[in-house]
Amino acid sequence: MASRLLLALLAISILSSDRLVKCDSEEDNLLQGINSYRTSLNLTALTKNDNAKCLAKGIADQFKNQLCTNTTGADTVPGTEPQFSNYPTLLANCHLNVSVTRDGAIMPACVSNLVPSLVLTNFTQSQYSSYLNDSKYTQIGISSKNDWMVVILTTNTPEGSYLSVESASLILKSSFAYQLLFLLVGFVLLL
Ligand SMILES: *[C@@H]1O[C@H](CO)[C@@H](O)[C@H](O)[C@H]1NC(C)=O
Ligand SMILES: *[C@@H]1O[C@H](CO)[C@@H](O)[C@H](O)[C@H]1NC(C)=O
Ligand SMILES: *[C@@H]1O[C@H](CO)[C@@H](O)[C@H](O)[C@H]1NC(C)=O
Ligand SMILES: *[C@@H]1O[C@H](CO)[C@@H](O)[C@H](O)[C@H]1NC(C)=O
Ligand SMILES: *[C@@H]1O[C@H](CO)[C@@H](O)[C@H](O)[C@H]1NC(C)=O
Repeated sequence: MASRLLLALLAISILSSDRLVKCDSEEDNLLQGINSYRTSLNLTALTKNDNAKCLAKGIADQFKNQLCTNTTGADTVPGTEPQFSNYPTLLANCHLNVSVTRDGAIMPACVSNLVPSLVLTNFTQSQYSSYLNDSKYTQIGISSKNDWMVVILTTNTPEGSYLSVESASLILKSSFAYQLLFLLVGFVLLL
């Protein structure tokens, strides 16, 4: 019995893949750093928002092949942010539309090799700090791809809630859902 459980756990850990786990820990590190920064300003900690994370992933995918320069990411000159023609599709893929995302903040940062300390300061010591230090933001979604880390902040007003705009279909999007699936597979193996 114990060895079967071990086998199931092994299967779970292989199937959920090291790469995903590594990305998630980079993102969790950043979330911790951002929330420490918020705490130091006497602001509430940001909680996770899955739709914002989904959109952050879509946007990181758009940026992934761009190299870091002194005018990308946190160094982008305000007003020259890149526009993506497939943005409506990226929104729709995450059950979002412009009505519920308008007041959110989308912050892409480019940091070679995503060095954790530099990733954090690219948010807390750049033009982005004025968003992170704003009490109107309550939730956060983070995703990374190659050298890009995308952070999205959401509000608790309808225009920035990032609440799903269509009936949530049972798409297994989040890695949590995948892990749950593998956990269930593990249980089936045990029976
Ligand atoms: C945070 O709150 C504490 C206690 O109320 C106060 O001493 C401190 O100055 C505040 N810090 C900021 C950055 O507002
Ligand atoms: C960016 O780098 C280029 C050359 O590396 C330099 O000429 C330019 O002044 C820099 N721009 C800023 C905003 O630092
Ligand atoms: C952001 O990251 C880059 C490395 O890609 C680094 O050179 C730069 O100093 C960082 N900016 C801030 C404000 O930390
Ligand atoms: C928030 O950031 C803005 C811009 O960097 C700054 O003017 C303001 O003083 C900051 N507020 C706090 C509470 O740190
Ligand atoms: C977004 O979705 C909401 C809720 O389904 C809807 O009321 C609103 O009209 C939609 N906005 C756009 C721009 O499609």
